[in-house]
Amino acid sequence: MSVVEFQAPKGVPEYFPPRSSAFLAVREALAHSARCAGYGYIELPVFEDTSLFVRGVGESTDVVSKEMYTFLDRGGRSLSLRPEGTAGVMRSIVENRLDKGALPVKLWYAGPFFRAERPQHGRYRQLQQVGLEAVGSDDPALDAEVIAVADEGYRRLGLRAYRLDLTSLGCAECRPAYREQLMAFLERCDLDAATRERAASNPLRVLDDKRESIQAQLADAPVMVDALCDACSTHYDTVREFLRDASVEWSEAPRLVRGLDYYTRTTFEFTHEMLGAQSGIGGGGRYDGLMESLGGAPLSGVGFGLGTDRTLLACEAEGLDVAADGLVDVFVVPIGPAARRVAVGIAAQLRGAGIRVDMAYGDRGLKGSMKAADRSGAPLVVIVGNDEVQLANAQVKNMADGSQETVTLESLVADVGARLSQKGTL
Ligand code: HAM
Repeated sequence: MSVVEFQAPKGVPEYFPPRSSAFLAVREALAHSARCAGYGYIELPVFEDTSLFVRGVGESTDVVSKEMYTFLDRGGRSLSLRPEGTAGVMRSIVENRLDKGALPVKLWYAGPFFRAERPQHGRYRQLQQVGLEAVGSDDPALDAEVIAVADEGYRRLGLRAYRLDLTSLGCAECRPAYREQLMAFLERCDLDAATRERAASNPLRVLDDKRESIQAQLADAPVMVDALCDACSTHYDTVREFLRDASVEWSEAPRLVRGLDYYTRTTFEFTHEMLGAQSGIGGGGRYDGLMESLGGAPLSGVGFGLGTDRTLLACEAEGLDVAADGLVDVFVVPIGPAARRVAVGIAAQLRGAGIRVDMAYGDRGLKGSMKAADRSGAPLVVIVGNDEVQLANAQVKNMADGSQETVTLESLVADVGARLSQKGTL
């Protein structure tokens, strides 16, 4: 076998047919759920000023301190490939004054994000997300909406083996006192130097340490939900009431820690039980001080990022055929040069009617062309030979039962359309 000279960069997944249809179906299902809740689309820059992410996501997070793809442009400005979408959405709302109209501003986005993580199954350096942000209201009904939209997206795909972990991370009022309490607790634990350092800079992150020796010591660690101020406590209770109203199920996760620093109050993560170590299929929460910290108005916000790659892996793990209807509806088979000209016209007409059409190219003969038709997965095949050209008609073959009928060229588009809608393809 010859050696391939170029390969995609390490940790970058590619999606090509047939799997790319499933990738698109996953992205569309998640996006559809956002659109159904009144979110408008925002196309964000793929790179931004490095300082936006440093300030927005947090200097001490792994995402910013270890995983950003940062470079100088030709003018010497420091830019970074976006590691996530929330900071960019805040920047755009402030810069374009999107918050001067009706509130909340509700936006969704989709596309690639970049993190220089150690690649493994389900952990990529170019990862895809569908995300949304709702900015300008601290109504707990909005927290519940965001969570319900994510849940509906997964449900729409048919996913079942996932769970929602939920907690509240408090606010600028109650978190500092809790932080002190946790730091005092961690000081009494037997920690190695690196963990002790983390306990000093970001004590919440220690709760997320997976090592058994650490977890054993954390059994009695204080948790944020026990230290919420009255306002945060009421907010959290109300979010949970609304989640019940929206028929969303969750597990309380008082130790839930997210990898980004901006979260306040409601915080959540969806995990899928068949994905092994990289089980997080989506996550998000409220971020009440973020916009102000980036120079905008003191507006609160809540949102999520759903991992498109991992959601696809989850669908595959559950054996879900999310892109069941193949690439084309009709395959056109011409026999002979005169028929080819008619076939090109037929393909153009059918495509013009919104029907997905491919045809046999090259001189393959009837047998080779029918093989190509079979491989295409099209439920209908339109065959045109010399006789058909003379009589201005075509044979329409139903691939499911092998039956074949003569249809006039004049009525072909209507006839094919009717057959496909009967099948439920269109
Ligand atoms: P995040 O939890 O960092 O949140 O990422 C969201 C989702 O993206 C994860 O649950 C996971 O499914 C997927 N993901 C993250 N990193 C990788 C990776 N290396 N490989 C594959 N998939 C990955 C955020 O990004 C926040 N901006 C979400 C948010 C929006 N919070 C509020 N608004």
